[in-house]
Amino acid sequence: MTALVTVQGLAKRYPLASGRVVAAVDGIDFSIAPGEALGLVGESGCGKSTVARLVLRLIEASAGQVQFDGQDIADLSTRQLRDLRRQMQIVFQNPHAALNPRRTVHASIAEPLVVQGGWAQAAVTARVEHLMAQVGLPEGFQWRFPHELSGGQKQRVCIARALALEPRFLVLDEPTSALDVSVQAQILEMLAELRQRLGLSYLFISHNLAVVRAVCERVAVMYLGRIVEEGPVDVVFANPRHPYTRALLAAVLPPRAAGMPTPAVAGDIADASRLPTGCRFAPRCPLVRPSCQEHDPVLADVTPVHRVACPVVTEPNARSR
Ligand SMILES: Nc1ncnc2c1ncn2[C@@H]1O[C@H](COP(=O)(O)OP(=O)(O)OP(=O)(O)O)[C@@H](O)[C@H]1O
Ligand SMILES: [Mg+2]
Repeated sequence: MTALVTVQGLAKRYPLASGRVVAAVDGIDFSIAPGEALGLVGESGCGKSTVARLVLRLIEASAGQVQFDGQDIADLSTRQLRDLRRQMQIVFQNPHAALNPRRTVHASIAEPLVVQGGWAQAAVTARVEHLMAQVGLPEGFQWRFPHELSGGQKQRVCIARALALEPRFLVLDEPTSALDVSVQAQILEMLAELRQRLGLSYLFISHNLAVVRAVCERVAVMYLGRIVEEGPVDVVFANPRHPYTRALLAAVLPPRAAGMPTPAVAGDIADASRLPTGCRFAPRCPLVRPSCQEHDPVLADVTPVHRVACPVVTEPNARSR
């Protein structure tokens, strides 16, 4: 099947005043099929939100390309991009900041329809009611203001607003991270259900692998601007190969359930403007070999659906150089 979203060699570099360059995203590839949810996980600062902005062309790429429905989004005119943006929407982490405190729920959800224009008042009302039902907001809530809503309800409003113009693709950037754990599960369930019902594709961003598992079929694990492991969620959960993925999993699962002897990695993510030579995970890696400091690893197939960027685990018999 043709992919809905294809990302190739995508990079974003920010020059700093000091003359150094932050490689926020450093050459990544992935694709998302129609109706598929791809999870993107990794620690704070690894480049997830930068990927989100690049995919929606809210910022310009330093290198590489993003195709949506077969079209390179860098080639689009402002007008074409505006049309395309209806098909791709984003939901942010913090619903408290995403809603105008002086706007009712109705006004917030109706906003994209009003901006688009051409909607009769009765049609707007009907559409808002339909969207509210879809995201599980009770009738009568449309005249409430954000301060009268819980965090979960606010995020439901943001999701309804994102769905207003019937997009095909949603980027969800940590959509439940600002919510209570009990509410998180409800929102994740709703997002999974909405995707099924509406045939949506998701790029679902989280620092938590367990959260990704609730919503996505496939997961890409990011470390310092690169994808280090990618595959079906069940496969990556059952058989994580990259030492960084193992550490991330160990952090969210009880050790015995995870069945992994590898302890969580020590230390912090490196500075993206001072990347080590060779493998960028090497300074924190429990499996590090001398050769890791020399060769920057690329993703290699371990099965036709599972890719890992670590020769130590993908070529365990290779002679250490
Ligand atoms: N405008 C910018 N100028 C300079 N550096 C930036 C800019 N935006 C992001 N960065 C840097 O790029 C890297 C990736 O940032 P990004 O926000 O994409 O990470 P993230 O994975 O979304 O983190 P978090 O989990 O905290 O949201 C970080 O090192 C960040 O400091
Ligand atoms: Mg982010």
